[in-house]
Amino acid sequence: MNITVIGTGYVGLVSGVCFSEIGNQVICVDNNESKVEMLNEGAVPIYEPGLKELMVSNMQAGKLSFTSNIGEAIQQSDIIFIAVGTPSLPNGEANLSYVEQVAIEIGTHLESYKIIVTKSTVPVGTNDRIRDLIRSISQQPFDVASVPEFLREGSAIKDTLNPDRIVIGTSSDRAIQTLKKLHRPLTNNLVITDIRSAEMIKYASNAFLATKISFINEISNICEKVGADVTRVAEGMGYDKRIGSAFLKAGIGYGGSCFPKDTQALIQIAGMVDYDFRLLKSVVEVNQDQRMQVIHKLQEALGSLAGKTIAVWGLAFKPDTDDVRDAPAIDIIQHLIDAGAYVKAYDPIATDNFRKELDTASISWQDTPIHAAQGADALCVLTEWKEFAQVDLQVLAKMMKEPVMIDGRNVYSAEQIQTSAFQYYSIGRPG
Ligand code: NAD
Ligand code: UGA
Repeated sequence: MNITVIGTGYVGLVSGVCFSEIGNQVICVDNNESKVEMLNEGAVPIYEPGLKELMVSNMQAGKLSFTSNIGEAIQQSDIIFIAVGTPSLPNGEANLSYVEQVAIEIGTHLESYKIIVTKSTVPVGTNDRIRDLIRSISQQPFDVASVPEFLREGSAIKDTLNPDRIVIGTSSDRAIQTLKKLHRPLTNNLVITDIRSAEMIKYASNAFLATKISFINEISNICEKVGADVTRVAEGMGYDKRIGSAFLKAGIGYGGSCFPKDTQALIQIAGMVDYDFRLLKSVVEVNQDQRMQVIHKLQEALGSLAGKTIAVWGLAFKPDTDDVRDAPAIDIIQHLIDAGAYVKAYDPIATDNFRKELDTASISWQDTPIHAAQGADALCVLTEWKEFAQVDLQVLAKMMKEPVMIDGRNVYSAEQIQTSAFQYYSIGRPG
């Protein structure tokens, strides 16, 4: 099939590459011309394991190309995916200006029947608005569908090529048949539904996963007080198929470009229809407080943080990505600086992105985890990068001024800690 994907961010680029990988002819469009130039040279603007290789091989096979000319791309395609950003507005609502702009551009360039598919995460009713916008500009026939995206950063290729399900929300039989055919090579779990339910499935899924995380984080806080181990509690709960073991990892709370924004947006969506989504409001509040566990534990170990040097390992919101959008590390480091501490920060790949979010004279950027820890009063592990688990803790403890560690991601086992000199604090496990 001939496909256009508009927006070459984490979702658009991965989707475009994967659709070409399964045999389609794909044109990816972005209005950021320098990004398009970079992509045409075979360079990938984001860190995502396996993406570059797959992208280049499909470009070489002539199945994938990049352009900033949206009109030409639309005219050559049967299906048009919208995958532009829907970031939060200051009140938590989703900012739909990018999606609406794209809808207007599609309407302007429509010359024959197309299926217009929204992959961006959008509030209930947005696809109806997209249809109305296009209809107000164009007389051409078209159908609209909501096919929300469920990939995770860091495993985006695997998630896209082997999804748990594909949700297709549309009222058009013609669109259903075409979209079924397009997605059939990926999975048999196709959920065919109406547009509004599809839009809601996306928010409900992210909100539910966020709820699991806040739930286990609260359990971890109680475990600390009663002397239980949250990792064993999660394991014991997870074997129950009705609960499931995924997303029960206690830590410093969820971050990223999706859970924080989508939980806020769903609270707003509910509020618009006079529904007070109390459970989700608590999930958000618990998540914000959980980030501060790192600060509380540091204060317990060191007293005042003023004048102290704190090493921070991990800036990305999770491993295997360079994405720092709403990373817990932003809040935590800001807090450390406000408390008068000096920060030595290390991340294998997210440092450049992080510096665009937060960069002051109180932070020094380190090129290895060991350099970051050298001479520090304490070490905070904020992202569970694999390389951190392999560090020799006995050697590490000796290099620090004080061997104090706050392991915000429960990276180290009790055995590893016992043989080191660390005064060790983790999340929800006996010290
Ligand atoms: P992103 O910010 O990484 O990328 C968006 C891209 O769209 C940018 O390259 C931007 O230049 C481009 N763009 C903006 N306006 C445009 C226009 N008028 N024409 C052409 N290109 C335009 O966004 P993302 O992280 O890929 O997220 C996209 C959507 O998918 C969001 O709604 C998000 O909630 C959802 N989503 C994201 C993920 C994820 O893991 N990042 C997963 C599932 C769903
Ligand atoms: C999440 C969802 O998992 C995807 O299905 C969805 O498509 C995406 O949001 C989206 O809508 O954009 P992502 O944000 O890439 O994907 O990453 P996750 O693996 O879900 O992690 C999100 C955050 O939760 C991270 O900060 C991670 O550290 C944290 N987390 C995750 C926990 O603290 N504990 C867990 O058990 C799992």
